[in-house]
Amino acid sequence: AVERTLSIIKPDATNRNLTGKINAKFEDAGLRIVAQKRIQLTKAQAGEFYAVHKERPFYDELCEFMASAPVVVQVLEGEGAIAKNRDVMGATNPADAAAGTIRAEFAESVGENSVHGSDAPETAAVEIAYFFSGLELVG
Ligand code: CMP
Repeated sequence: AVERTLSIIKPDATNRNLTGKINAKFEDAGLRIVAQKRIQLTKAQAGEFYAVHKERPFYDELCEFMASAPVVVQVLEGEGAIAKNRDVMGATNPADAAAGTIRAEFAESVGENSVHGSDAPETAAVEIAYFFSGLELVG
């Protein structure tokens, strides 16, 4: 089925001007960028986005990092987009990420891992709605 997924290009990647190289990986994989904006999150906004991780030991560090520089939030659309995006990103920890994936090529650590992608249809819907209105999604 054609799906949409929420993607975030994280501060470590925007700081290193990797937005274009990362977008090329998405587009080469057949993912269409149907919405995109560069924004500066506050720590509180990052915390709300990552609320499911509130009890994790890395939560505070994660929120600080996500608010440390601009991020690019985007909606990717395509056949099986959620799984396809996760394939293109590679494993959360770059040490475990397959060759050619975004995290293998660009990520600096498990925390500063260049990209986020929704993990399931339900979370994709919630995460897309957190950043975009229907009017901003241009398939
Ligand atoms: P992401 O897919 O954005 O979802 C939650 C994030 O938490 C994850 O990517 C990592 O960047 C981050 N994370 C996971 N494990 C750790 C960790 N051990 N230390 C710091 N950050 C982590």
